[in-house]
Parts: sequence; structure tokens; C-alpha cells
Amino acid sequence: MSSIKVVGDEQLKGELKIQGSKNAALPVIAATILNKGITILRNCPKILDVYHMIKILEELGCKTKWEGNTLYVDSTVITSPIVSEDSVRKMRSSILFLGALLGRCHEVTIAYPGGCSIGKRPIDYHLNAMAKMNITQEFIGEEENIIHCYTNKIIGNDIFLEFPSVGATQNVLLAAVLSDGKTRIFNAAREPEVTELCNFLQEAGARICGKGSAYLEVEGVKSLHDVEYTLMPDRIVAGTYMTAIAATYGDAVLTNFPVRELESVIRTLRKTGCKIDVSEDNVRVSCKKRLQPIELIRTQPYPGFPTDMQSQMMTVLSLADGRSVIQEEIFESRFQNVYELRKMGAIISLESSSNKAILTGVRKLEGAVVKAHDLRGGAALVIAGLAAQGTTIVQGATSIERGYEDICRDLSALGANICYCSENAS
Ligand code: UD1
Repeated sequence: MSSIKVVGDEQLKGELKIQGSKNAALPVIAATILNKGITILRNCPKILDVYHMIKILEELGCKTKWEGNTLYVDSTVITSPIVSEDSVRKMRSSILFLGALLGRCHEVTIAYPGGCSIGKRPIDYHLNAMAKMNITQEFIGEEENIIHCYTNKIIGNDIFLEFPSVGATQNVLLAAVLSDGKTRIFNAAREPEVTELCNFLQEAGARICGKGSAYLEVEGVKSLHDVEYTLMPDRIVAGTYMTAIAATYGDAVLTNFPVRELESVIRTLRKTGCKIDVSEDNVRVSCKKRLQPIELIRTQPYPGFPTDMQSQMMTVLSLADGRSVIQEEIFESRFQNVYELRKMGAIISLESSSNKAILTGVRKLEGAVVKAHDLRGGAALVIAGLAAQGTTIVQGATSIERGYEDICRDLSALGANICYCSENAS
């Protein structure tokens, strides 16, 4: 386990290219098994979550190889429809193999994912949808915590999602692509990463209408074919680095930037007084005056403000000139960073009945030893370290490596004094 050491109070400057998207790559990697052949994925991020998905592909019998950031997947042969319990425990996104394996093998055995540090995260929408598509479910294992699903034929149906869940929408798409008949998804998630999965599947021969909307229609086809696909840039990494530039009162340019997909974050950051100039896929962020508070930010499904940017925005607002409120609407326990930021001098109170964090901005944070509880929370602490006076140690850097190729490399390129160090460093 490593930590990240940041010597703060350095304004970020320069230019940085945004990596490929984690949340697009993970479902697309699961989708590769729907094709009995070769898939080539360009701009694939080299992050722990992707390595983990690749390990599952290999356990299923696929062959994979890297060339730079291009991932080759040969899924001509699948030898097992079992996703090990260990894999699901390590990464919740492995639940995407539920729909993908059903589509490919008409059978899957997979552990029931537990909650994680940001909330309970059930999968009832996924399972209810599968049941409507002629898929039988049995709970097995000593604690009935393993799900065995099977069918002789997936039959398309109307699926109404209670909430526009990203994972459930993706799982239904994966199961529907090779089904018999038509599947209609009502109240589908509209996140760009759902659209990206649709784009990929269409390129491989799937028939999907309604991309980007809350109503998706999938007409089952007999098979998919080989495809070469370039993954979109990561909107959350882009947003993270925007907030890092803002929190350090820097002036830097981010290239390969997913502008349209990050509109809500751009709009919100502008409210803090940051100047954001957009030209095609380049974004220049500069912040010269004291950050301004924001009355209320609520996390919402796309195109609203993303839950995955909540922690980073909290760091920014902890430095603003006044009172801000953040309301977390997607996950019930995504405020662990409050306790860590307080160690650095932030003034934040929690109103747990309404899932609100109330911030009174301070002029400066102080370096401290803090702990990353989850991926985005960890990145937000690195940002706090960049803005703070003195040295900050962010323990649990592995959480950050789940989604950022090399946060130290990237931020060093913008002039930050940051490096990996051993867990005990202080
Ligand atoms: C969510 C985020 C996604 C983010 C990802 C990782 C939203 C809408 N989704 O996707 O942007 O990238 O986390 O942080 O912002 N739920 C159920 N039953 C289900 C499925 C979901 O009750 O079967 C609930 C969840 O507990 C949660 C909400 O629905 O409160 C959204 O969950 P969902 O979109 O499925 O989560 P992820 O796919 O993990």
C-alpha cells in the first residue's frame, strides 16, 4: 500500500492531456465477450479497475494483450460463465458481467456485490429486469450470496427502471443485444458512459435506438462482429484536474477534454469565479480572485452535477469566501471526506437527515496526514494537499489508482510537488 505526498501551495500551470474514460472502458470491456472474435479498444486507461476487468476476462477464457493504451481482447472462446466471488468483492463493476455473460452464454454465476464505502448500492433493478427477460435466478452458496442465472432464450421485454441507474441500464443493454425480440428501457440512465456503450455495441452490429435519451430500444440481433473502437476521454478525471487548477489558483490548459459531457461542472466552477475558456476539446482554467461560495450544489443523474465530482468540489468550496451547501442525492454515505478535510482545517458540518454538508470556507488549508476512503474522495484529498500550506500525506493511494492512470505524473506535469511514498511516511 502506498501513500501520496504533496507539498502544497503551488499554483498549477501548463498543459495536460486527459486519459481515456474508466466508466466507459469498464462496461465496454464486459461487452467484448458478446463478440465471438477480436475487439480492439483504443485510448483505454491503464488503471487498476481496467486491470481487474481484464483479469476476469482471462478467468472466463478470453485472451488479452496491450500495445500502449490499446487493448486487444480475443473472446472467441469462453470456457466458464463464473465470475469469482473474490473478483466481485474487489470491484463492483464486475456486476456488468451479469448481463454480458447471459448474453453470450445464457448463464452466469456471480457473487452478490455488497455495499461499499459510499453506500449500500443494491442490484435489485438489475435482477428485476433480468427476471422480465425470461431469465431464472437462484441464490446459492452457504449464505445464499451467489446468484446463478440461466435461460434457454433471452426474450426482449419492456423494462421500467424506478431510478435511472447507470449500472442497471448497462446490464439490460448487455443482456438485450443478442436477445430474441425487442427490449424497451424506460427511465434509462442518460450518462455519457451509457451512450458510449451503445455506440460501441452499434459499431459491433447491435441495433439500438434512442441513444442519450431516457428511452432506449434494442432489437436483438443474432451475433456481433469484430470492431476497433476509441474510448472517450474521462470526464471525471477532466473535472478533477479542473478543480485542482481552481483550488491552487492556477492557470492551465487541459486537452482531449470532454466539454459537452462536463457542462454541469464547467457551469458550477464558473460560479466560483474561475475563468474557463473552451475551444474545441481544449479547456483553459484560470483562477485569479478568491473563490466564491455556492449556495447549493445537488448531485443528480446526468446531465445534473455528477456524484463522482462531489468530493473534489467540496475541496474547492472549503476554500471559498463564505458559506456553501452540498447535497448528495445519489449515495447515502459519500461524505467521509468531511472528516479528513477537517484534519486540514476545513470548516464543514453535516446534516445527515438531509444528506447535506455545510461549508464555511477558509483562506488556507493546512497539510496533514489523511486517508483516502474511496477513489474520488482520495483525489479530492490530493487536491486539498495541493492547495494547503505544508506537506500532506494521503494514505491509501491504491483507491486513487483504481481510476487515475498516474495522478502524480499528471499533476507534476502541471508543476505540482507530488510523489508516491511508502504508507508509513509522514
Ligand atoms: C453510480 C453513478 C455513476 C457513477 C458510479 C460510480 C449516478 C446516477 N450513477 O453508478 O454516475 O459513475 O456510481 O461512482 O450518478 N440503485 C438501487 N438499485 C439498483 C441499482 C441502483 O437502489 O439495482 C440505487 C443506488 O443505490 C443509488 C442509485 O440507485 O442510490 C444510483 O445507482 P447506479 O446509477 O446504479 O449506480 P452506479 O451504476 O454504480
